[in-house]
Amino acid sequence: IFQSSGLTTLPSVLLIGPSGSGKTALLTLFERGNHAPTHTSQTPLAVECSLPVGTRAGSDKYRSVNDPTNQAHKKFLLMDTPGHGKLRHHAIKNITNPQNLKGIIFLVDAATLSAGDDALRQTADYLHDVLLILQKRNVKVLKELPVLIAANKMDLFTALPAALVRSSLEAEITKVRDSRSKGLLDSGIGMGDVDDEKDDWLGEMGSKEFKFSQMEEFDVSVEVSGGNVLGGGGASVDKWWKWVSERL
Ligand code: GTP
Ligand code: MG
Repeated sequence: IFQSSGLTTLPSVLLIGPSGSGKTALLTLFERGNHAPTHTSQTPLAVECSLPVGTRAGSDKYRSVNDPTNQAHKKFLLMDTPGHGKLRHHAIKNITNPQNLKGIIFLVDAATLSAGDDALRQTADYLHDVLLILQKRNVKVLKELPVLIAANKMDLFTALPAALVRSSLEAEITKVRDSRSKGLLDSGIGMGDVDDEKDDWLGEMGSKEFKFSQMEEFDVSVEVSGGNVLGGGGASVDKWWKWVSERL
């Protein structure tokens, strides 16, 4: 879907996550350095971004500071996708058929993730499915694809701190995992076929509780870090910039 531009040779970073989490707002901030109003996305969007001054790409780590190639700011392609449940095939396509993909940012709205919040279940559902795709994919291609769970909207007083975003998502994914495997049993899919069932189980087989650390076995590194696109100076997305720069 992004082929025509000729930009596909650039390393790319994929932005995914539920509707309203702030993906397009973040894209605008990364691209232009300032915020602009957004509308819910109906199509994917790819833009060229440059690492900000003073950030060094991971691949430039061993270069001398005087190396002229460091002068040029490392460029990458940032790909925004619609979060609406019916439009997620755009995001999934980019994971299953990646073009020089270096990492995935799964953006969540940290103000909607309290226990019992409907958005928590929807977010966990989407994240579960994405991680399961990565788990299966990485086993096949033996290649890691790191995930940053970016906990956005930290400017709101209702936002959960990153550590709580992590634990509540883990707890909710545990529930999603249980109900999916029960669903498989009930529908008869995978009955008598232990392998099928194993394939669709996220993380460590037989574990009671899901933890993001269980993904390491499948070469999926998951980090959770907080930030906010709105309501705060430039420092509010610094950790996300750093994460991106280390993967380029
Ligand atoms: P879809 O395109 O529907 O998938 O949503 P999206 O993830 O692209 O969300 P979008 O970027 O359109 O942002 C949704 C709303 O959240 C907008 O009104 C943004 O202004 C707002 N928003 C984004 N980031 C922040 C933030 O850090 N803090 C606050 N308070 N609001 C934010
Ligand atoms: Mg959008």
